[in-house]
Amino acid sequence: MYTKDSPLYQPLLESSQQNPRWSNSTALKPLLIITPFHESEIQAAVVCSQKNGLQVRIRSGGHDYEGLSYLSKTPFIIIDLINLRSIDVNLEDETAWVQSGATLGELYYAIAKESEIHGFPAGICPSVGLGGHLSGGGLGTLVRKFGLAADNVLDAYLVDSNGKLLDRKSMGEDLFWAIRGGGGGSFGIVLSWKIKLVKIPPIVTGFTVTKTLSQGATWLVYRWQSIVDQLPDDLFIRIIIQNVGNGDQKTIQTSFNSLFLGRMDELIPLMNERFPELGLKAQDCIEMDWIQSVMYFAGYQKDQPIELLLDRKTLYKSSFKGKSDFVKQPIPESGLKGIWERLLEEDQFVCMIMDPFGGKMNEIPDSETPFPHRKGNMYNIQYLVKWNEDGTNVSNKHVRWIRMLYRYMRPYVSNSPRAAYINYRDLDLGTNRLGKTSFEEASVWGTKYFKGNFKRLVQVKNKVDPDNFFRNEQSIPPLLDLI
Ligand code: FDA
Repeated sequence: MYTKDSPLYQPLLESSQQNPRWSNSTALKPLLIITPFHESEIQAAVVCSQKNGLQVRIRSGGHDYEGLSYLSKTPFIIIDLINLRSIDVNLEDETAWVQSGATLGELYYAIAKESEIHGFPAGICPSVGLGGHLSGGGLGTLVRKFGLAADNVLDAYLVDSNGKLLDRKSMGEDLFWAIRGGGGGSFGIVLSWKIKLVKIPPIVTGFTVTKTLSQGATWLVYRWQSIVDQLPDDLFIRIIIQNVGNGDQKTIQTSFNSLFLGRMDELIPLMNERFPELGLKAQDCIEMDWIQSVMYFAGYQKDQPIELLLDRKTLYKSSFKGKSDFVKQPIPESGLKGIWERLLEEDQFVCMIMDPFGGKMNEIPDSETPFPHRKGNMYNIQYLVKWNEDGTNVSNKHVRWIRMLYRYMRPYVSNSPRAAYINYRDLDLGTNRLGKTSFEEASVWGTKYFKGNFKRLVQVKNKVDPDNFFRNEQSIPPLLDLI
């Protein structure tokens, strides 16, 4: 337990803050940071905080886009799960138990140590914590083949608002449904998850083909949209779009970044048939095993030691603001050109990451888990702007820019509601009021993340945490009149 007087308090507070945007703000700091080693300590912390009217913020990997795992406007403590990160892989039944404080990198590493032909379909950045990631869905290079990370959860242990320890059987199917995509911080503290491992071929192929505007990037992005969700589910091709260069040299760079669950000699004919415009060649491709592909996507060289995946810090840490959209119809070339103009207006690092859906995502009904963005969504867009200078004015300037881009995108993306991904949390979509929030008020942001599943999430919240002990600016509110 660390109080403000402890020399370790500040380093610990900052240790896993992945967005330094608020480091100089006057926001309240936690009264205590607790780093439990045992579940009983979490149960005690919950009961004690209830008695003292304190809010609890749960932190696993600290990647929340809006810092909700370590910031609060009312007096609070942080329960940081840094010491709860054991991983037990069981190849006999192809499952693993993983504690919430473990990172994706630690999980991928543990799987690779046991097997060369198993993996887990979750996010790309190794420092992301399992606790928040699985709570909000979790998508990565295997999403078209196996769905989201949360789709592959079989059981979980959770401490509820009464301090009780529950597993899937004792929590019941409603609560088990809610914690697999309903967003972290609303229903309890998930201590550990039982996940289903997936089989991966011993050799997979990766490629990254980069094109600028003068190399026909606009047409390629347009074409990509018309095939990407229809491709065989072994093939995942995302696009990362960035502004690069300075002055007259400034341009848009599009990187077609792909994982194919098979060998290069199958991939090249497939690409020639389905996406010949990209002109994929053997020298663009790298054959490797699955864990090397994890390294490759994480920004390392495939032959670097896989122990690098155990580093809990993000590779490129700086202040950022993110937003997200889902796309159901191809954006016309004129629309893409308008995006390029806006990306070129910003002087800082900006990027759009387009992750394709289709495949397994089309087979899973919208109500299977709280994540409703399934069939009919061609791809997800994540918008990011990053900066390194401090100061509210600087930060406001970049936030204004990304809001402007988001406004521009309105005609091209999903509407009624304009959908968003909870793991790319965005408080611009709306927040709870400090006192009571009505269902209508919370629906403004809730239906964007969860569409028709929002109502069921509220019903579950009513049942398991009617006093709203677990709460934050975008937690699911309880509404007694809905029962
Ligand atoms: P953090 O600890 O901040 O938790 C996030 C939220 O969940 C908070 O509200 C927190 O209170 C709550 N929470 C945390 N642990 C909990 C627990 N054990 N029980 C209940 N609630 C808990 N996403 C994706 O789908 N694919 C990707 O490839 C990436 N890549 C990526 C890279 C980088 C650099 C960042 C910053 C983020 C991503 N993400 C992502 C988004 C990521 O999935 C999302 O931010 C997760 O919520 C992060 O989980 P953490 O545990 O790290 O965050």
